[in-house]
Amino acid sequence: MKILAIETSCDETAISFIKAGGGLQNPRFQILSGAMSSQIEIHRPFGGVFPSLAKREHLKNLPIVFKKAAQKARLTMKDIDLIAVTIGPGLEPCLWTGINFAQELAEKHKKPLLGVNHLEGHLYSFLLPKKIISIAGKRILSKIFPAIALLVSGGHTILLLMKTLTARKKLGETRDDAAGEAFDKAARLLGFPYPGGPEIEKSARNGNPSAINFPRPMINQKNYDFSFSGLKTSVLYYLKKQKSATLNLKSNAAASFQQAAIDVLTAKTLRAAEEYKVKSVILCGGVAANKALRRALKTGSRRLKIKFFVPDFQYNTDNAAMIAAAAYIQHLRGKKRKLAAQPNINL
Ligand code: KG4
Ligand code: ZN
Repeated sequence: MKILAIETSCDETAISFIKAGGGLQNPRFQILSGAMSSQIEIHRPFGGVFPSLAKREHLKNLPIVFKKAAQKARLTMKDIDLIAVTIGPGLEPCLWTGINFAQELAEKHKKPLLGVNHLEGHLYSFLLPKKIISIAGKRILSKIFPAIALLVSGGHTILLLMKTLTARKKLGETRDDAAGEAFDKAARLLGFPYPGGPEIEKSARNGNPSAINFPRPMINQKNYDFSFSGLKTSVLYYLKKQKSATLNLKSNAAASFQQAAIDVLTAKTLRAAEEYKVKSVILCGGVAANKALRRALKTGSRRLKIKFFVPDFQYNTDNAAMIAAAAYIQHLRGKKRKLAAQPNINL
């Protein structure tokens, strides 16, 4: 089936056309097109996303991005079997722009419309690469599950046990800041622009990850929860003690902060993988774009002799292809969600 997906939960206006097939036993996706309008430059002066401005930009960009994606896919609405739109979590005014746009399209062209949880989009984004089919052969799912999934984004840090593609149990989550939020806040303290995650990663490449011994919050606790606000505060105290913040000092702080965050994320994920004797580890969400985190979890998974899955780089941060993937799975399960913005919906 051909799916049109719309994502406007934060500061990216994204639309994708996807061909999906294979059913719940062997879901496969072909990304026919994707178009995106990023608002990073607009929000940068505010040091974060400014909701009313974001809404205005979504309204302006949705028809343009839609036209671009449809042209790239060489499709018209006649070819579409299902429309999918993010209903949350995210910024309420932004979510509504996507929902209203999707509803208008669905009514005009008489197509079914499905509301999708953005977090399920991240969770299923690892199924998008073509490679995953050849890695595991035909019956891919029996070789992937049970799995431990780590979802790390700007608003969430969640560790999940996925018994199957659709049966999951939350093992833990952050008690304060999300991992991406911690990267963004630490970056701001270091004087880097928004969004801070990629800036920290860039600066860390020139720094020494063991230069400063920042805390690894909750790393030795037996539960699977996380806490990142103390780590961010340690960066603040460290910087306050310094006479001047040279480029070298900033790189060392960025590298040491990144290492501390990665150590905690990796330790807890791998411990869960061992405890639940899973076949694979899945990494997803915007922070999964971090090469050092990918490397650490890949190495750790190899040591445990289990598989490691992560989406291609462009599908870690917010995108519409992942919303289409989640919509396909949700459609096969016959699950419907209320078509209204749900800013705080969880997994
Ligand atoms: O998934 P996402 O695009 O949006 C949410 O659903 O929140 O995640 C955005 C988050 C931001 O906090 C951003 O700083 C972080 O992902 N991020 C990174 C990297 N790229 C994006 N964090 C660390 N390293 C990166 N390379
Ligand atoms: Zn996201």
